Amino acid sequence: MAEKITVSLIKADVGSIAGHSRPHPRMMEVASEALGRAVRDGLLVDYYVTRCGDDMQLLMTHRHGENNKEVHGLAWNAFMAAASEAKKMHLYAAGQDLLSDAFSGNVRGQGPGAAEMEFEERPTEPMLVLMADKCGPAAYSLPVAKIFMDPFTTTGLVIDPRAHQGYDIEIVDVVDHKKVLMSSPAELYDILALLGDTTRYAVKRVLHRTIGTSAVISTEKLNMLAGKYVGKDDPVMLVRCQSGFPAVGEVLQPFAFPQLVAGWMRGSHYGAWYPCGVDQSDPSYYDGPPRVCALGIQVSNGKLQGAEMPGSKPGDHKFIDYFAGKEWDYVRNKAMDISIYMRGHGPFMPGIVPPEDLEYTTRPEILKKLEPRMQPL
Ligand code: F6R
Ligand code: MG
Ligand code: MG
Repeated sequence: MAEKITVSLIKADVGSIAGHSRPHPRMMEVASEALGRAVRDGLLVDYYVTRCGDDMQLLMTHRHGENNKEVHGLAWNAFMAAASEAKKMHLYAAGQDLLSDAFSGNVRGQGPGAAEMEFEERPTEPMLVLMADKCGPAAYSLPVAKIFMDPFTTTGLVIDPRAHQGYDIEIVDVVDHKKVLMSSPAELYDILALLGDTTRYAVKRVLHRTIGTSAVISTEKLNMLAGKYVGKDDPVMLVRCQSGFPAVGEVLQPFAFPQLVAGWMRGSHYGAWYPCGVDQSDPSYYDGPPRVCALGIQVSNGKLQGAEMPGSKPGDHKFIDYFAGKEWDYVRNKAMDISIYMRGHGPFMPGIVPPEDLEYTTRPEILKKLEPRMQPL
């Protein structure tokens, strides 16, 4: 039986250049150094440090399972080191997502987002790493519904005998901190009745009943954790693909629909999801529009291989940057049209999110001020 491997993707926004844009290369460097040392010390098998917009992404492989204290501690320390560089340079929002002063054994609940899965490696293990900026954890619900439950998206559900049985979907209530495991297609309409409410429900995990976990998403809701708004969640998703799981193309295809997601400017607007390469993920229009990047990797004995080229330095070229290609220009143009249209609403709903989801609000003070002037109808 193959040895179990864990892929952990832990992310945080710990400061960026000129607003909420991108981490400084020095921040990425110190995080890479920390993870590099952990490979030499035997804690990690491999790692890759990347980013999506202003969020630093630590992709790590190891043999210690999910929620491992040492691995989470390593990620925490790597973010602390990056935040300290950001503070030295007086970068914007330095240390933003590190909500506590002391690490308590697990990054969950302390600000960073984590998507982790432990599995027995198949003879070949193609995976997708999806990373989003300027949006909440429910942003993946619509694509996940299409990928794993919609036969008009994933033909594999119809013609691949291994996928035909469907998938189990773990759904979390991010407000009341509850979860439930549901079965597709048997409970398809019930699942959609929950997931359609993107203010409360999000998919945490998707499981194939015999092969195991296919997808996992970070669902930590930062504004709930902190008790006050400290930034959008900017969630990540890991997906194991092919051979009974959805094909890579079936996972990517739903992103050709530039769905409206909550987040964007001041975490308070609806904008069209904009698929792009990592290097194009700077929030260049109205602090957005919300971005999504997709890296294709191969995991082999825990090593991240993918499109690594002869002669490349460690940490280089370990992925395919799927949304960087020109074919996605069509979607990007459409996303811009939609986002500009939504902007036309200014501070009116549905251009902005409902009052309870606003990043910050002046309404209580305004109402207080108006109290003496308020007349019964
Ligand atoms: C959204 C985001 C930005 C900021 C905006 C205001 O997730 O990060 O749109 O909300 O730039 O930032 P502050 O409140 O720091 O002035
Ligand atoms: Mg930010
Ligand atoms: Mg961000």
